[in-house]
This record gives sequence, structure tokens and C-alpha cells, in this order.
Amino acid sequence: MDFKQLFRPGILATHPYIPGKPVEEVQRELGLDDVVKLASNENPEAPLPEVVAAIIDAVRQINRYPDGSCFRLTQALAAHLEVDTDSLLFGNGSNEVIDMLIRALVSPGENVVFSAHSFIVYPLTCRAHFECGRAVPLTADDCHDLPAMAAAVDSDTKLVIVCNPNNPTGTHNSHDEFASFLAAVPGDVIVAVDEAYYEYVDAADYPQTLPMRAEYPNLVILRTFSKIHSLAGLRVGYAVGHADLIAELQKTREPFNVNSLSQAAAIACLEHWDQVAPRAQRNREQRNWLADKLDELGLAVTPSQTNFLLVRCPGNASELTRKLLQKGVIVRPMDAFGLGDGAMRISVGLAAENARCVKALEEILQDE
Ligand SMILES: Cc1ncc(COP(=O)(O)O)c(C=O)c1O
Repeated sequence: MDFKQLFRPGILATHPYIPGKPVEEVQRELGLDDVVKLASNENPEAPLPEVVAAIIDAVRQINRYPDGSCFRLTQALAAHLEVDTDSLLFGNGSNEVIDMLIRALVSPGENVVFSAHSFIVYPLTCRAHFECGRAVPLTADDCHDLPAMAAAVDSDTKLVIVCNPNNPTGTHNSHDEFASFLAAVPGDVIVAVDEAYYEYVDAADYPQTLPMRAEYPNLVILRTFSKIHSLAGLRVGYAVGHADLIAELQKTREPFNVNSLSQAAAIACLEHWDQVAPRAQRNREQRNWLADKLDELGLAVTPSQTNFLLVRCPGNASELTRKLLQKGVIVRPMDAFGLGDGAMRISVGLAAENARCVKALEEILQDE
């Protein structure tokens, strides 16, 4: 039996998402005890003790299905963001929300516009759904080319995804750039701005998009508890959008898509929002330190607003990342992100992890 013939062409054309290698896998394969993972833009800090306590408390009730409507989490987030409860939709990570948008909006023959060097899930999801992705190259300084993206929109475009700040470049588009872009996109095309790294940003010209929804009802904002809040393993992300858009998207989600531990943890994160700024500050200090050291090693680092750095290497980045792996440091080569073989992405870790990465790079580059 040839199972392949049973599947839609989109499924045959795509491939599974390839994540950064898990620490245990590298330990097992290379026989190394001490491995650091700087490959998946995770927060290297553990969740807050109060968040862990909320998860443990919620464990006692996992014999019950979760609240499919995320009632308490919705109330808490709506109060925190000062938005209406019916403008919120939760997903099993913001990844699921991206999937819902593409599946719900796009019919055969229609398309989705995004950047050619951005979060890899956009093209993967488009390919699996229908071959509907339309990728627009970055500007020379590694930013989304928003005028070119607006120009790529045609009468068959249903959705444009802007990743701000962008993964894997760490760059951002300014308020003025984004406002001009919104003005240029037709009102019946949904603009999803993926702000997974929102809480890390300190650029004064970064757009505050929540208030922009009043003028642009086609704007939907995606954020996550995976990054600054250290909940990547629990998978909670959300969309903020027009109530009518959210109501339609609600129909497409699984009945219990956000599990009860995740809901309890996310509520506890919101109750301790005062910890966000110090977390972002610690990341900033480590990111600056790491960027300076990489610069001293002669590697070109793109200025970042996030918890990762895009690093251009003189030679072959896959080879360099392989050698780092041999030394127990997992980083991400960028060929899969369409950035060729001259770039790698290093997530910002704890001080000791970053020092370990720099030391390993020094040793490798000295040997060359
Ligand atoms: C730009 C961007 N969007 C979305 C996500 C997915 O986040 P989540 O864990 O909420 O699914 C990531 C994760 O790396 C990301 O980089």
C-alpha cells in the first residue's frame, strides 16, 4: 500500500518542523554530560516559583477536561491588556493560532504574504494547507521590506504575516513603517503581526499595535507565554483581534486546545507581570555581552531586540554549528530559514552558558 497516494499534494510537498536538538539527544549521541542549548529562543530562566506552584496545584484536577473557553485566563488577560474579552483567542502556543488563521482564511488559489526570512512555521503551514505562501525578501539591513510586502498583496491575498521583531534576524520595523504598511494593505486582507518577542523590545520606535486595532479592524496581534514567561513547554499563545474575526476563528480550534496546567500557569504569569521587566533586562545584559564577544571574535552580529542573535560567519555556518555541537553547545544553522550557509542563530542563555558558547567558538576559530 502506497500511503503517499492518500495524502493531499501539500502534505507530500512539506516536511516536519525541525526544532533545535534537545539537550538529552546531544548528550546521548555525543556522550557529553554538560550540554547547553542556545537553539530555540527559549528563556533560559526557569518559570517563577509562583507559576510552578500554580501548575502543581492544577495537577490535582487533571482528571477533568480543561475549561475549553479559557474563561479565567481570558478575564485575566483582557484586564491586563485592557481589551474586551471577545477580542481574545488562545492557542496551544501561538503556533496553533498561526495554523488556525491560515486554515480558516485561505481557500485554494488564494495566498498568504510573509517575509522570506522569517519564522519557518509560516511557509511550512502554508505548504501543508495549500501551496499558498508568497515570500518577500528582507531589506539589505535584515528588516521586513514592508513596502514590498504591501506590493505583493493582490486580489487573492487573504493574510499577511509580519513578524515584529523578526525571528531569526532580531530586527524590528518602526511604528511609522508599520503604520504606512497598514494604510497600504486593503482592509479586507487580514494583517497578523507576530509579536512573540514583544516583551523583550526596548526600541522607542517599536509600534504599540493594540491601539491600532481601532483604525484597522483587519489587524490581529499574536503573542505568547513561551518566551519571556518561560512557558515554552506548556504551549500557550494568543491572538488579539476584532471580535467578529475571533468568533470565526473560535470555530476552528480543538475543543480543549489549551490544557489546564497551561491555563493555570499563564494566569499566574499575569499575576506576576512585575517580573517581566527584570527578566527582559537580564536578557538585554547577556545579549549585549554576547554580541560584544562575538564581535571581538570577528563575527558580524545583527543588532537584536529579542533573546537571540543572528550571526554571520566568514565560512560555512553548518560546519561551525557542527563543531560547536561536538563541544556541547547547540545553536541553530540558518540554511532552513533561507539565509544560506553563512549564518547561525544563537539564543541568549544564562551568563555561564553564554561564556561557554564564546569559549567554544574561540577554540574553534583559533584552530582554523
Ligand atoms: C516568531 C515566532 N512566532 C511564534 C513562535 C511560536 O511560539 P509558541 O511557543 O507560542 O507556539 C515562535 C517560536 O519560536 C516564534 O519565533
